[in-house]
Amino acid sequence: MTPTITDQFGRKHDYLRISLTERCNLRCVYCMPENGIELSEKENLMTHEEVISIAKTFVEMGVRKIRLTGGEPLIKKNVEKIIIELTKLPINLGITTNGILLDNYLELFKKSGVKDINISLDTLKREKFNSITRRDYFDRVMNNINLYEANGFNIKINNVLIKGMNEDEMLDFIEFTKNKNVAIRFIEFMPFNGNKWNTEKVVTLNEILAAAEERYSSENIIKLKSKKNGTAKNFQIKGYKGSFGVISTVSNPFCDSCNRIRLTANGRIKNCLFSSTETNLLAPLREGKNIAPYILEGVFHKFKTRGGMTSDKDFSDIEKNSNNRTMITIGG
Ligand code: 5AD
Ligand code: SF4
Repeated sequence: MTPTITDQFGRKHDYLRISLTERCNLRCVYCMPENGIELSEKENLMTHEEVISIAKTFVEMGVRKIRLTGGEPLIKKNVEKIIIELTKLPINLGITTNGILLDNYLELFKKSGVKDINISLDTLKREKFNSITRRDYFDRVMNNINLYEANGFNIKINNVLIKGMNEDEMLDFIEFTKNKNVAIRFIEFMPFNGNKWNTEKVVTLNEILAAAEERYSSENIIKLKSKKNGTAKNFQIKGYKGSFGVISTVSNPFCDSCNRIRLTANGRIKNCLFSSTETNLLAPLREGKNIAPYILEGVFHKFKTRGGMTSDKDFSDIEKNSNNRTMITIGG
């Protein structure tokens, strides 16, 4: 029998998010500290063979869904090989990308059957895009969203609303779903090391719903069924092609149904986005050991909620919420 990866609270883990690289071709202001980050030494990062080998062990242990993240996963050397090998496994494979390089990979995704593409986009305005990401790729990302929509992919657009940055575009993003078959997902802004988070900057689930109700009135907002282990509460405006949802990690966490494990680019597992401890898999793998016991042990000790930051007070405490990586080295 295959062991299932279960934590001390009985949650079963069948979803692995693999960060392929700590690097990115954007510099989103809320993701990376101003002075950049210290990158891991190259020899401490997983090679593509090691990624595949570790992923296979997880699949033998019951993982059925894998998502590739970054940094920006599409800049990883040999990402094609990783995608081709992983799509041979009995899993659903998805990717989270900033969208810049997607046009180069259309054929690969079609051929290998990858359908779930999450694209990060925080603004629908070119100027604003340049100031948030510090790079000039707005047109390329928009063109790629259109290209992938035209080719029938399941597209989710991740949007982090931050007060004083882009919260004025919330309704524009909902309006964007009128003629586009995409799912907008507003992610509540979360605290990570060096990202200048504070409670006042967060746009919450309730604020988003209140604004939507004022604009569309509640009888035109359809509540969609939530998916098993889904992180978003989803809605659709009557008659619109796409939908929108909110990932409310800050105002309304969904830890009870968490089934996610994260593998960092340097081969460590984080049992929670907010965990301050990690379990090294790369070292035992390189010593030729079986990594399964390390996985079981690392997940078992997962906290009940948000890496142990149970209350809003803990979550807002910079001492506690900075005791973690920067987002770019976790991968979301
Ligand atoms: N809070 C919420 N979401 C974040 N992301 C990056 N940093 C944060 C944060 N502090 C999002 C990115 C990307 C996804 C992987 O995580 O916008 O869409
Ligand atoms: Fe890159 Fe994503 Fe971070 Fe932006 S949020 S800098 S796209 S990893």
